[in-house]
Amino acid sequence: MSVVLASRPHARRARLTVNGDTVEADIEPRTHLADFVRDDLHLTGTHLGCEHGVCGACTILLDGEPARSCLTFAAACDGADVVTIEGLDDDAVAAELRAAFTREHALQCGFCTPGMLVAARDLVLRLSEPDERRVRLGLSGNLCRCTGYAGIVRAVMAVIADRQARGETAGGHEASRMLGPVGAHCPSVEDVPASLHAVSGPESAAGTKAPPIPVDGTFSPAHRFRQTFTVAFPPEDVFALFGEVEAVAACLPGAFVEHLPAPDRIVGGLRVQLGPIRASFRGQAVIERDEAARTGRILGAGADAGGRSATQGEIRYAVTPDETTGTTSVTLDVGYTLKGPLAQFGRPGLVRDIASRLTSSFAGNLEARLAGAPATRNDVPSGLNPARLLFSLAFDRLMRGWRRLIGRDGPRS
Ligand code: FES
Ligand code: FES
Repeated sequence: MSVVLASRPHARRARLTVNGDTVEADIEPRTHLADFVRDDLHLTGTHLGCEHGVCGACTILLDGEPARSCLTFAAACDGADVVTIEGLDDDAVAAELRAAFTREHALQCGFCTPGMLVAARDLVLRLSEPDERRVRLGLSGNLCRCTGYAGIVRAVMAVIADRQARGETAGGHEASRMLGPVGAHCPSVEDVPASLHAVSGPESAAGTKAPPIPVDGTFSPAHRFRQTFTVAFPPEDVFALFGEVEAVAACLPGAFVEHLPAPDRIVGGLRVQLGPIRASFRGQAVIERDEAARTGRILGAGADAGGRSATQGEIRYAVTPDETTGTTSVTLDVGYTLKGPLAQFGRPGLVRDIASRLTSSFAGNLEARLAGAPATRNDVPSGLNPARLLFSLAFDRLMRGWRRLIGRDGPRS
């Protein structure tokens, strides 16, 4: 079958093969492949979550390789072979995976499933052994807001094992390209640190002791953002609490303090969970406080247990009275640099969005603490799992668009 789409001004003519059909179309240079297949070809099985290349919901096959269609310009795919989830209807490996997903209860909301299936199929064709570590690494670019990876990983491993038992070996091209979508940069699966292993495994990451990495006083952050919040307590109380490191850490989801080697120094870290990856950053921080100005600065550096993901950051805070309401305003100026596998989640816009939600949780905990609430166990609560936040942000954006469409928020500006 051949499809020719109507011409558009400023568009560029491109000829693609999509699910076996030749498609010739005039495509605007700015049109992403995901929008093209969904809006022009009505192949709506390709889903859009983050539109930042983070969640993997939009993963399709581009010349046989999994690729993020939200980051790919359709006009640049002239001559390419594109396969969407619809194009895998009759694919034997995809059929086996669908059955395994059903059997292993790996299907939940279905939003992430098309991208997950494309990534899973690539793994089945790539891996000759049902190796959980490799499977989890291969799926690490596909986020599931339900955090339901156990069934998905079991399904992928079962299909690999079944194929192995039938003597259908993988293509053996694992080494020709890194696992994950096109552009994945993990140098070798053998190098994957223990901290990136199974979430369901032992508490390896949280318990592993890496030597704290030194704080670089000349550090210049790659990204900066500002957060402000209000607390219904006097500024002197709020500033005093900011001086109690352990109390502040107890208010921040995932943070932990190991010890305080000096009054101005902390050794501790932060536990994070992003999709199937769990990491525990451990490091140290130096604290500066200006009692008169009620300002402070925390300069820290940390790395995960394998040292593959590393971060440096600086938080400057200012506590000021809000004369009109009698409350206290807290301003946080955050600067950070993130390196390694977890940097794929570090797009500034997303970090800011996630930080604003973490800040509001921190402010709530701080206020409860000032009101005399007892300290609670400070782990990463599921509601603050950044992967969940990511999807809730995408959902919020979707709902805002929908409300605008039906006119509840007034006309689009
Ligand atoms: S929509 Fe493309 S990676 Fe999230
Ligand atoms: S099953 Fe879709 S987000 Fe988890």
